[in-house]
Amino acid sequence: MPRVGEARREPPCREQQGNRQRNPVRSLAVPGEVQGRKPGPGAMSLVYRAGRSAAEIQQQYGISDVVKLSSNELPWGPLPSVRDAILRAVTGDDGANRYPDLRATELRATIAAYHGVDPGRVAVGAGSGGILAQLVRSELRGDSAVLVPGPTFDLYRIMSTWTGASVHVADMPATVPDVDTLVAGLRPETRLVFLASPNNPTGGALGADRVARIASRVPEGCIVVVDEAYADFVTACHIDQGAALIDRYDNVVVLRTFSKAHGLAGLRIGYLLGHPAIVDRVGALSTPFHIGTVGQVAAIESVRHAAQVRERAERVVAERERMAATIRAMGLGLGWSQANFLWLPAGSGAARLAQALEQRGLVPRLFDGKGVRVTVARAADNDRVLAVLGELDLRDTWTLPVGDGVVAAARTAAELESVSGVVDGAVARDAYRAALALAGRVPDPQIDTWGAEQAGHALVAELLDVVSVDLLEGREKIAAQVIATARAKDGQ
Ligand SMILES: Cc1ncc(COP(=O)(O)O)c(C=O)c1O
Repeated sequence: MPRVGEARREPPCREQQGNRQRNPVRSLAVPGEVQGRKPGPGAMSLVYRAGRSAAEIQQQYGISDVVKLSSNELPWGPLPSVRDAILRAVTGDDGANRYPDLRATELRATIAAYHGVDPGRVAVGAGSGGILAQLVRSELRGDSAVLVPGPTFDLYRIMSTWTGASVHVADMPATVPDVDTLVAGLRPETRLVFLASPNNPTGGALGADRVARIASRVPEGCIVVVDEAYADFVTACHIDQGAALIDRYDNVVVLRTFSKAHGLAGLRIGYLLGHPAIVDRVGALSTPFHIGTVGQVAAIESVRHAAQVRERAERVVAERERMAATIRAMGLGLGWSQANFLWLPAGSGAARLAQALEQRGLVPRLFDGKGVRVTVARAADNDRVLAVLGELDLRDTWTLPVGDGVVAAARTAAELESVSGVVDGAVARDAYRAALALAGRVPDPQIDTWGAEQAGHALVAELLDVVSVDLLEGREKIAAQVIATARAKDGQ
């Protein structure tokens, strides 16, 4: 188990050096590189851009019924008990006139009890964004490196560059990051590896075995940050979350937030679970009273009503699955989302799709040339999104398999599975290519790295009618299941 903390200058472990020599695609694996920036005005050129607001769209199109689907918030306000607790906390002579609890002692204890860990393993911050800001300042220096898989949440890259560290993006399918590609992107000076699970914007979640394999191969003193902002929407049972990870790995920290399933984005509360030494370093960098009374009280009350939070998350998940099934039934292949949003891989048609949604009062998040991300919201608003997708013909630019090829590709994956004994990234990519060939289309080279593997995995999952396929876990079982299902479908 790598030690946590001070050992910042050690060379990479032998396994890692060997791997780097062996891996011929290393330069391809880290193409999108943000050069090391020194703190100062230059560093500020990387700014976080939030999703467009409802007010902007209202003004631009002159429409009133606008729904924001660009920031993955919950469509409902705080739970009634949370709202009452907030009111109680701010009124009276010992209300908003008093400073909040400096150390957020009760909040940390409540979170610790929820996860079954010691309070010394919990640091709280102004949203997980606030915790991230503390973490990069505590762990990075100008000569440090940071590794992120691409595509992922932009804040990792942006905040890391504030410290002058260099950021390396290992471009790969986002649903199930390939461990070897990621490990090949490690450098002796890598101090943080960021993994969002589920990933934003694509929605795929990471099996615990992959976190373990990455954590055991990073250089000494390097921390693997597993951002579980969307953990409450994960339905795949194999995803090993939160406390289970930090119990097993001293060099893994987990980030959580109250902004998503708890519906408290406006109050800015997030936390980090990890080794006490890391928690202390991160905690030391918070500004005094950085979490207000309202945030502390609301978060405590929300955790106390975790069952209601879960119930709401389940409603979102049911909508997510309904939307995904409807979109696939339109013949549009879709990746595997474990979050409260869907990634619509419209490729060069992404701007057209975003505009069509906006014109109908739906505010999506556009990733120009790649896709559109939409938050799963109330059923009626989700229906509006589905209606727009039904009206547009996006097949030509859609970057996951479309039409009959979806099923054909899954069959191909199943066939290859029976030969190789494991459905891995290469098989999934082959499945994707087969689907394109069947649809008479030429693979887009961009898609080979951006979404092909994800597409293949999604296809296999679709064929199996299961939520997730972590293909390195229980591979024999999955292989047997894939083949049996493919045969059954063939026989129909
Ligand atoms: C993966 C991921 N992590 C963290 C955050 C930030 O959450 P917070 O509101 O806690 O700062 C987001 C917000 O969208 C996110 O997508």
